[in-house]
Amino acid sequence: MLREPITINRKHVEEIVAREEAEFRSRTPGSQKIHKRAESSLPMGVSSSFQAIPPYPLFVNRAVGSRIWDIDGNEYVDYHLGFGSLLVGHSHPLLVEALRDQLGKGSLYSLPCPDTVYLAEEMVRRFAPIEQVRFCNSGTEATMDAIRLARAHAGRDKIVKIEGSYHGHHDTVMMSTKPSIEAAGPAERPHTVPASKGIPSDVKGNTIIAPYNDPEALDRILSEHKGEVAAVITEAVLMNVGIMLPDEGYLQSVRDITRKHGVLLIFDEVKTGVTVSPGGVTEIYPVEPDLICLAKSIGGGLPIGAFGGREEIMRRINHSEVLHLGTFNGNPMSMLAGLVTLTQIFTPEAHEHANGLSKQLGESYVGIIEEFDLPMHVTQIGAKGCAMFRFERARNYRAWWEIDMDVSYAYWLFLANRGILFPPGFDDQWTVSIQHTQEDIDHHTHVFNQFVAELIR
Ligand SMILES: Cc1ncc(COP(=O)(O)O)c(C=O)c1O
Repeated sequence: MLREPITINRKHVEEIVAREEAEFRSRTPGSQKIHKRAESSLPMGVSSSFQAIPPYPLFVNRAVGSRIWDIDGNEYVDYHLGFGSLLVGHSHPLLVEALRDQLGKGSLYSLPCPDTVYLAEEMVRRFAPIEQVRFCNSGTEATMDAIRLARAHAGRDKIVKIEGSYHGHHDTVMMSTKPSIEAAGPAERPHTVPASKGIPSDVKGNTIIAPYNDPEALDRILSEHKGEVAAVITEAVLMNVGIMLPDEGYLQSVRDITRKHGVLLIFDEVKTGVTVSPGGVTEIYPVEPDLICLAKSIGGGLPIGAFGGREEIMRRINHSEVLHLGTFNGNPMSMLAGLVTLTQIFTPEAHEHANGLSKQLGESYVGIIEEFDLPMHVTQIGAKGCAMFRFERARNYRAWWEIDMDVSYAYWLFLANRGILFPPGFDDQWTVSIQHTQEDIDHHTHVFNQFVAELIR
């Protein structure tokens, strides 16, 4: 018989937050001071609103290997790693050497360079769905360009996007990323909710929202919009709302349904990519999307984006059909960084190392959760993992609303004060880099154990 999870005492959570916030403030006066100053020249004191978190963002000035230091000199083991962009870890010696050398030969040509070709060839080799690829500078650009291409290929305007999934900050996909439960509408027929003001109202009608892990709803939506939809875009594994895995057979159903309706399928692998498997998510779930988008971890920490797929679709990028442009596209620094990272640093052993440590961390969490019957669960995939303070595994965005964000915040602060840095977003996931060590994982496990002991005391 299943045991009931313990009930978390709210008073304990409040006490932990109050104490840990005070501790955080006393350890990081430099960050607080410069953040205050930043607020007069930068809205919210930061350059990406993701970074503006309570009590205030940490300001950082150094990072090496698995470690990162704030400007007060506090050292952290970094599990944020640029939202997973640094699977390679910080300042990898091979990258430092290669990029230093490249800087002396020029940082930007805005003309093709051979490394673009070599990196494209490596992308084709690594990622099964890619026959041809184009480079850009971010995940946002990758999904924006892939969607334009899909629209041109299909000759249709509408896109289906999954509720709770995030694909960057361009208008088409800035819909229902984390809508309020009141605005979100019925679970099986979600409303399209713009995530920001300033998006033209006529854009909204071109983005239709479908629930994750619900093939019947997708089939119905595509039937209702017969002949209107160019593509379904989805993260195969949702990573904007903790980590939500696909139900068994779900991705194949999505593939079958999109084929049946003559609609393209785009997998957004910006967060998954090489962090979940050397060949990305389609190596774990062997489903064939028409296009995939990549960014973050393929660039070794430099700005990069890429989208690629079937040649028949990609060839529409030409002077008379689809324009794909960008001054910084294929710049020599990012191309070299990507090439060194993918061909020299990410050996099969390096992937095994990061994925193995992440698995071990996930198993340690699970052991502790089961020992104390905590109302939380852990999802781990490749170098990524996530503790979600909800008893049952979350299968879609609606379940995200049941995650205990107060405990999540207490957990973030508790870890930060003990030298473990998580992404600024209390439902985000860890990434273990190829430079993390067994000692890092042991320390992390120990601190998580301490947190649990405080929570249930
Ligand atoms: C799945 C996914 N797609 C796209 C993006 C946008 O990438 P970028 O921040 O590089 O524009 C993100 C960013 O977190 C993401 O997680």
